[in-house]
Amino acid sequence: MPGISIRNVIKRFGDLVAANNINLEIEKGEFFTLLGPSGCGKTTLLRCIAGFLDPEEGQIHFGERRVDGIPTHKRGVGMVFQNYAVFPHLSVQDNVKYGLKARKVPAGEQEDRARQAISLVQLEGLENRLPNQLSGGQLQRVAIARALVIEPEVLLMDEPLSNLDAKLRVEMRGEIRMLQQKMGITTLYVTHDQEEALSISDRIAVMEYGLVRQVGKPWEIYVRPQDTFVAGFIGTTNMLDCEVTVDKAGILVARSGQVSFGLTQSDGLAQGVKLQLAIRPEAITIRDIDEPIPDGHWSMEGKIVRFEYLGSMIKYEVGFSGDVALLVISYDAEPDKIKNVGQRVKMSYPIERAKIFRKGPAQ
Ligand SMILES: Nc1ncnc2c1ncn2[C@@H]1O[C@H](COP(=O)(O)OP(=O)(O)O)[C@@H](O)[C@H]1O
Ligand SMILES: [Mg+2]
Repeated sequence: MPGISIRNVIKRFGDLVAANNINLEIEKGEFFTLLGPSGCGKTTLLRCIAGFLDPEEGQIHFGERRVDGIPTHKRGVGMVFQNYAVFPHLSVQDNVKYGLKARKVPAGEQEDRARQAISLVQLEGLENRLPNQLSGGQLQRVAIARALVIEPEVLLMDEPLSNLDAKLRVEMRGEIRMLQQKMGITTLYVTHDQEEALSISDRIAVMEYGLVRQVGKPWEIYVRPQDTFVAGFIGTTNMLDCEVTVDKAGILVARSGQVSFGLTQSDGLAQGVKLQLAIRPEAITIRDIDEPIPDGHWSMEGKIVRFEYLGSMIKYEVGFSGDVALLVISYDAEPDKIKNVGQRVKMSYPIERAKIFRKGPAQ
């Protein structure tokens, strides 16, 4: 069942197309995230859904109900912003009650609902404090309670954790996710932080220049990026310029400098095709030079250039003849397994973990 349908939405600012024909179907109860770099159009799309901006073209539905063209306060949206936007002169309790007063909810019911919302976000005991007597995390809880208390059909959150320090951000994203699941509320969340998006979302839309590049579950986007932008924006990846060539065994491989990479997606590939190859650093296993290679793996030899020991993992840079280097992350951080700088090593990766992207127009 659809929670939010966004159909062919276009929003322009002069010549700039900030939302360029966006189509998204968000399920009822889903936690859906718009992820992309600053300026890609996330806030613009969210504001179109909230009713603060009118798109030039397209339609927006909440369930069966068409909402574009109707004013914000009639859409049934709760909003949480980066800068909290709580009223400085009102206590926690009065901030939370604000939306209920505006909707002329009876006083007794206001009390009950505000109490429940305050308890949901764990602010009991702070009801009478003013915003300047609260920490950043507490302020954001007030903002969340205020958005939820009106029992919105849709919850919209625009970078709600950006002003908090790193540790609190991680804590609060877990809380937001738990709260959302408990209430089953359809949520559209905006962030530029890929780790936050991966950790909190049912599905993610990755955006660039007003366009949706890919929609998928977090692991789909991470493991099967559809283009080099998504591959590069989400997580860390080795990206290499390659050319398809035939190796000594007569197999089509991608060649970068002196190094050959085995491919599975050889369909339609022909010698001379130029492409970009992406391999995640953790898809590559570092082995001793005489170690056997599992079936389905492609192996290479190189030399350790440097490494960083990070406790739970080691980051290696492995060099090859020519200028090619790969980042490899190993979770096998046992002291006697650590390779030394200058040591020759074998590496292998499951062939399907090498993703190829053709360069230029489709060939
Ligand atoms: N009111 C506006 N007038 C003109 N340009 C705007 C306005 N709001 C946003 N933009 C432009 O639209 C693009 C998308 O902005 P925005 O939606 O805020 O991106 P994001 O939230 O992803 O950082 C940017 O290039 C921004 O400068
Ligand atoms: Mg924004």
